[in-house]
Amino acid sequence: MSRMFVPGPVDVDDEVLQAQARPMVPHRSKEFEAIFRQAAEKAKQIFLTRNRVLIATSSGTGLQEAAIRNFVQRDVLACVNGAFAERWFDVAVSNGKQADKLEAAWDAPITPDLVTAALKKKSYEAITIVHNETSTGLQNPVGEVAEAVRAVSPDTLILVDAVSSLSGAKIETDAWGLDMVLTSSQKCLALPPGLALCAVSDRAMDKAKSVEARGWYFDLLRMDKHRQKDSTPATPAMSLIYALDAQLDRILAEGVEARFARHSAMAERVQGWAEARDLGIYAPAGYRSQTVTTVRNERGWDIPALNGFLKQKDMRLANGYGALKNVTFRIAHMGEIQMSDVEELLAALEEFMTQ
Ligand SMILES: Cc1ncc(COP(=O)(O)O)c(C=O)c1O
Repeated sequence: MSRMFVPGPVDVDDEVLQAQARPMVPHRSKEFEAIFRQAAEKAKQIFLTRNRVLIATSSGTGLQEAAIRNFVQRDVLACVNGAFAERWFDVAVSNGKQADKLEAAWDAPITPDLVTAALKKKSYEAITIVHNETSTGLQNPVGEVAEAVRAVSPDTLILVDAVSSLSGAKIETDAWGLDMVLTSSQKCLALPPGLALCAVSDRAMDKAKSVEARGWYFDLLRMDKHRQKDSTPATPAMSLIYALDAQLDRILAEGVEARFARHSAMAERVQGWAEARDLGIYAPAGYRSQTVTTVRNERGWDIPALNGFLKQKDMRLANGYGALKNVTFRIAHMGEIQMSDVEELLAALEEFMTQ
């Protein structure tokens, strides 16, 4: 198997790929409903929640849109310090909402103080925040931000994108009081792309009842009604749900805490290596991602040439995102990547450096 140190889609274990080959049955059948129910129940353990987990046939962006259409009638505060947070802001604007941007530099976190100041100026129905900015490798302090929101504006819903961190970093959905946490299948869950999952609080579902024009496909009240019968409003990507069910078993067998610890150790190793080689890290200390490290390309490496070199060894990493292309590169250490894989990558990078 090749090793993709890219922040999604990531490598999928063979057993999980094979699970997709299970024959079709009617999606409105007891057989399928049993699998759907057990996958949704198991997923609660990785979200660290007792709330409902909804499973959508879409990528993560679909649930960014669902969040806006279900939980915001008018005003939303979009915290923006990276490309995917910017996308969520665009989603809000393109759905006709009054979205205000709370911006920080891409290499700076969204802090509780920034959020407190914004909420003191104006009241919002919801805030959106990205936990792990895949474009920069920066992890926002979502737990502390949520605490600040509750202190200033307890009715404001807290909507969190954990697309590139859920199951790779500890996100305490219930303990932090998060109203919606959404993720995609193709990142830390190490599944093929095509599914998105979210945990949603009761108060968010209550709020949705008063929001007009929620649409149909991503109407979370409709989705939840069907979920209570272990089903979905429309035909789900059944093969992916077979794979999800199988992968959740693997994740729970590893243990969620052990999985977080594995990601954390790999992040520390990669970041320590980059610093030792005088390659800076884009995100400031204290706010570095556990799942993807954005390295400043201070040695001026030719990143496409580096990837060409790595491909001969069945490995690849990711160039920098957007304006950060070539001036940074990204090493993802998420999903099923193990420390031994990281060691092989670092050895290959050392070889590239000295050739
Ligand atoms: C943090 C973050 N949010 C949202 C998205 C969009 O997710 P998707 O491509 O699954 O729609 C991505 C994709 O890379 C992401 O990294």
